[in-house]
Amino acid sequence: MAAAAISHLRRGAQRHALLYLLQRRFSSAAAAAPLATARRLLSTSVESSASSTGQNYKPPLFDPFRVATLASSAPPLESPPTEEPPNDAPPPEEASAAAAPEQDAVACQHELEGMKAAVEALRSREESPQEKEAWRLLGRSVVNYCGTAVGTVAANDPSTASQMLNYDQVFIRDFVPSAIAFLLKGEGDIVKNFLLHTLQLQSWEKTVDCYSPGQGLMPASFKVRSIPLDGNSEAFEEVLDPDFGESAIGRVAPVDSGLWWIILLRAYGKITGDYALQDRVDVQTGIRLILNLCLSDGFDMFPTLLVTDGSCMIDRRMGIHGHPLEIQSLFYSALRCAREMVSINDGSNNLIRAINNRLSALSFHIREYYWVDMKKINEIYRYKTEEYSHDAINKFNIYPEQIPYWLADWIPEKGGYLIGNLQPAHMDFRFFSLGNLWAIVSSLATQRQAEGILNLIEAKWDDIVANMPLKICYPALEYEEWRIITGSDPKNTPWSYHNGGSWPTLLWQFTLACIKMGRRDLAQRAVEVAEKRLSDDKWPEYYDTRTGRFIGKQSRLYQTWTIAGYLSSKMLLDCPELASILTCEEDLELLEGCACSLNKSARTKCSRRAARSQVLV
Ligand code: GLC
Repeated sequence: MAAAAISHLRRGAQRHALLYLLQRRFSSAAAAAPLATARRLLSTSVESSASSTGQNYKPPLFDPFRVATLASSAPPLESPPTEEPPNDAPPPEEASAAAAPEQDAVACQHELEGMKAAVEALRSREESPQEKEAWRLLGRSVVNYCGTAVGTVAANDPSTASQMLNYDQVFIRDFVPSAIAFLLKGEGDIVKNFLLHTLQLQSWEKTVDCYSPGQGLMPASFKVRSIPLDGNSEAFEEVLDPDFGESAIGRVAPVDSGLWWIILLRAYGKITGDYALQDRVDVQTGIRLILNLCLSDGFDMFPTLLVTDGSCMIDRRMGIHGHPLEIQSLFYSALRCAREMVSINDGSNNLIRAINNRLSALSFHIREYYWVDMKKINEIYRYKTEEYSHDAINKFNIYPEQIPYWLADWIPEKGGYLIGNLQPAHMDFRFFSLGNLWAIVSSLATQRQAEGILNLIEAKWDDIVANMPLKICYPALEYEEWRIITGSDPKNTPWSYHNGGSWPTLLWQFTLACIKMGRRDLAQRAVEVAEKRLSDDKWPEYYDTRTGRFIGKQSRLYQTWTIAGYLSSKMLLDCPELASILTCEEDLELLEGCACSLNKSARTKCSRRAARSQVLV
């Protein structure tokens, strides 16, 4: 068991090796899991798993540290205790396995030094006038709370100052590219403050019609408000006021916020080497609360996360309820990142096992059922329907008539993509950029699929990039479809905003995916397209029309994630090795040694073995 645990560390959590791996002891509890628990081991639910020692992981409902910090309007950010390793030496059988972690520690140190050197190089590089302007604007968007920088506003557009809606707030998802830009520039403090302050907002009591969201939900955004101190009209104190969707247009719950928070936490650790932040008790609790919310059992039969419409970047009704790709890619990425950061101890065995089981099931499901290319579409075109059996080919009973008229001409000979959503008798064939790009970044897609996605973008450049990278989705919903699916939304008219608009912020995610796949040339091309207009057009939020020619009808100007996405792309292209703070490589071990081997039932198909066969073909 010790060897297995150390091998887990080698896979992803090298930082533990660097910090104090040699002092750690591992429980043999999981190795002794009886056959009778196999069904439970297969469950991806954390709470329902049980170890033979009876040490279930359950996040504390009442976390004294969290409550203490919530009570204060300016909570202290100095480090509370990290999870201290026991002082005793490892037992003899672990001593030999400890040699490998020592090597990992050296490799990890080496990696960190490489990162520091790259950041140094970025700090001293010559910036173009456009980059200088972008940095100035990014600096202007910084929000302070009790004297420290904690985030950036979504937009800083003086022309619409009277109708800011919630664009004067710090959005979790919008801050990610800002954070990456700051981290690449060696400015980690604002990111650390953001991570800790949003963590304190995690469990705030907010309700919609007397109903509160699940524990662990992260807000979509927050605002710094000044309120009179104890009824005194002279003195004010600052408070952070989060929005979990209870004020948002459409009352949409932000499922992606917690996932982005985990992804950013890992990136912060990797680039700064400040792993102590991840080890803090409150941060570990925060990670677990998010995971618990995502991994809890429900009515669903699929390993994908079931969400309502508008639960991510597309935060208005756009027909993406169910199992939208964007959420699945971020979910996979967050699970991979969390697995590296969860402290290894007796209490986390079940959690790690639940993460691993979910990762393998999720990757199998997406790789197998969401992927389409010329060959697959032809298969769907010839599908038989109404198959009732375990070995049905057309498992979701997709009627071939669903293949949209545009797709037959559009799908290139070379390449393919992951579809937008999959439900019983429903495949959403629209191409969604963020979900596809993040499937590459996180290795949710196989190597072959990842290459295929970039090939498709290259082949369909005029549809997806054209005059401004990148289309949020392709194609737009028009006519009756627009009326029924968007609810006649005047902001989401065809080829505008979420309905086929072009969003320059997606450039940084495209750049990451291209770097990971050795296609910097493509990213470079896209950056050049964006550079021609962004500064002259005052850094708009989005562009309209089929080819992205016009600044969006209701687009904000000086949109922060447009500015930060551009800066991050430029820096990543200059120091591509820094992309590794956000990417994950294929994990073959994940596809082996599954709890399914304990269950010989013919009905259970092992997703790990199945997933492995996808990679090897
Ligand atoms: C819009 C976008 C959303 C973004 C927010 C702030 O609501 O749809 O993704 O987070 O604006 O920029």
